[in-house]
Amino acid sequence: MKCILMNKNKEVLIAEYDPATSVFTEIYEINDINYAPYILKNFYIKNDINDSSFRTNLSEWFKNRGIPSWRDKLDLLLHRLNITAPYELLDKAFGLSLSDQYWLKPIDSNLYYDDINFFDNDFDYAEFMEASLSTNSNQITKETSLKTPNNTTDGMLKKAWIIDNGIRYLLKGGYKNETLQPFNEVLASEICKRLGFNHVEYTIDTYKDIVVSKCPCFITKDTELITCYQIKNDMQRHDSIEDYEEYIKKLEEHNIENAREKIENMFILDYIIMNEDRHLNNFGIIRDVNTLEWIDVAPIFDNGQSLNIEYYDEEEVHISGSGRLFYEVKPFDEIIKVVKNIKRIDISKLDGLVEWFDDLLHQYQHLTNYSDTRINKLCILLNRQINKLKELILNND
Ligand SMILES: Nc1ncnc2c1ncn2[C@@H]1O[C@H](COP(=O)(O)OP(=O)(O)O)[C@@H](O)[C@H]1O
Ligand SMILES: [Mg+2]
Repeated sequence: MKCILMNKNKEVLIAEYDPATSVFTEIYEINDINYAPYILKNFYIKNDINDSSFRTNLSEWFKNRGIPSWRDKLDLLLHRLNITAPYELLDKAFGLSLSDQYWLKPIDSNLYYDDINFFDNDFDYAEFMEASLSTNSNQITKETSLKTPNNTTDGMLKKAWIIDNGIRYLLKGGYKNETLQPFNEVLASEICKRLGFNHVEYTIDTYKDIVVSKCPCFITKDTELITCYQIKNDMQRHDSIEDYEEYIKKLEEHNIENAREKIENMFILDYIIMNEDRHLNNFGIIRDVNTLEWIDVAPIFDNGQSLNIEYYDEEEVHISGSGRLFYEVKPFDEIIKVVKNIKRIDISKLDGLVEWFDDLLHQYQHLTNYSDTRINKLCILLNRQINKLKELILNND
């Protein structure tokens, strides 16, 4: 299939795409490499449009837009969608997403972005939501159910984009039988709100008695999310604090205001909730897709893998997990040292937070079946981290 890789209304390149394998077999023309996905620009060699490394990376990038192989309960989802692999979904809706503005336009079509993008145009999400989140769902029946931005979501958790009152929201479940992720997301939002950190607002919702988190889309038709993974891809890897410092430098070079403080805020949140999953695709920047200007650090998102979620044991004391600082896995007490002036945090804003979380967890006990012991242990852990942060603030000079 001959097609044009588009970034909103801009033509990036013209290529031959094979939907059966999701591979780009030939590149005919590069129209504007500047508008290509950030990660691809580094692979582009001027005057050699059929350089195999560029083509391979283009195919990789496109395939990676699909649902990843590590998605929780992927086999069941594929069965319910009546397909055999996630990449089969990529040509059902031009590869459109709600996290950026790329799409594949068949060369002989006269489609317009305005008529097909999912920011303006509604989509039929009901069957996909059921297939993704429900414990008992039938196979989908409608062809339109496969024309949604759900074809291009990343991440491990079961999830679905829905429309509620005209607003696009992402619903996310827990992992396997665990249901704490949604509560951790809401806790993170509450902390960010109190401390004034720019964040994605998560609330608790239920779908057929399943607890999910719900957050609005933070991308608009004029923006895209570029994750740190993409930005770091052509930068030297040090496996040390240098990775962090060079990332901040890069953001500052692109005139992002208070970049350091914003990145610090994310690690302060991770410290309080003991988030173990701050990998490089769980943060990034927002770019203007029209001007290619870097606008800001992306609001803090994906905070579910926290509060020792993987180590809960009714009988045992908690084991403390480790956090992530770029390529390194380190104790939280080490990572927090990157914050230059921890005294700028007004910790009194977290007064009553533990009681608030305790309340939230009790409210949903009839759905989660968490024992009082578990809730208590979660609150003790949260309280411990807040107190440790208080100590750090007191002793910082
Ligand atoms: N509110 C949002 N608006 C736009 N894109 C989002 C939003 N939340 C998540 N995404 C995109 O979806 C991906 C998966 O979401 P994430 O919350 O990280 O799920 P998981 O917990 O499964 O990793 C993110 O990496 C990001 O690219
Ligand atoms: Mg994620």
